[in-house]
Amino acid sequence: MAMEVLYPLFLCLAVLAGTAASAPPHSRCLDNPPDLTAARVESGKVVHDFAGYKAYVTGAIHSDRAVVLASDVFGFEAPLLRKIADKVGEAGYYVVVPDFFNGQPLTGTPGENLTKWLNEHSPVKAAQDAKPIFATLRKEQKFSLGVGGYCWGGKFAVEIAKMNEAKAIVISHPYSVIVGDMREVKCPIEILGGENDPTTPPKFIYKFLNVLRKRSDKIPYFGKIFPGVAHSFACRYNITNPFKVKTTEQALALMVGWFEKHLK
Ligand SMILES: *[C@@H]1O[C@H](CO)[C@@H](O)[C@H](O)[C@H]1NC(C)=O
Ligand SMILES: *[C@@H]1O[C@H](CO)[C@@H](O)[C@H](O)[C@H]1NC(C)=O
Repeated sequence: MAMEVLYPLFLCLAVLAGTAASAPPHSRCLDNPPDLTAARVESGKVVHDFAGYKAYVTGAIHSDRAVVLASDVFGFEAPLLRKIADKVGEAGYYVVVPDFFNGQPLTGTPGENLTKWLNEHSPVKAAQDAKPIFATLRKEQKFSLGVGGYCWGGKFAVEIAKMNEAKAIVISHPYSVIVGDMREVKCPIEILGGENDPTTPPKFIYKFLNVLRKRSDKIPYFGKIFPGVAHSFACRYNITNPFKVKTTEQALALMVGWFEKHLK
């Protein structure tokens, strides 16, 4: 399933093996905070009670296919994340971007304590609490449900995939996803990583794919390492840098392609 990426992965790993082994895992979750003052061009709207959550909703309201996008630590207000949500919507999905942080995302200002915040905003607990979102979508006749998660949202998506709530997930530069998670996900999973992401470096992603490959109960999987980009590349990109923009577009296209294939 992921054969076409294994060869480039080996090359990446060979290059990184020397540095990755000695450097401790380091979180880049707070790098590049989104510019919340940037001009917004949004086709969706904010609703105040989607299964109890404030949420940005966009896309094809009558579609029977829906995608829940789980944000990074900066939350559902980020303009670039909403732009991604709108684009997924244009591909024919109803898209929901819930505020999982109850109005208290991180902002990237100095002095913020990521560890403390993560204790108070566990993606594992958030996934348990999010069941009403999926129940509500099914009640609205949306039976093909996917989850796309970035950073924090990557762990959220994996936890959702353990609970049979989704038919496919995509995780981009995930935070705190571990090898053991790959034994428990129950639906097709796509993993998108950045070559220069020390939070989930290529060697971790390679291990994830290896566990998925060895599972006796085969589930479809796919992995790709994007060269020359760091943590955050898939949702917090430099809009004046053509290379970064192109990489993000490729990541988005792969995510939508995964949903096209598995949300029937
Ligand atoms: C951040 O929070 C953790 C957990 O609450 C605490 O142990 C740590 O001392 C805090 N770090 C700083 C720099 O305040
Ligand atoms: C964004 O990219 C442009 C062009 O590559 C560069 O000049 C600029 O410094 C970058 N901005 C940030 C915040 O990295």
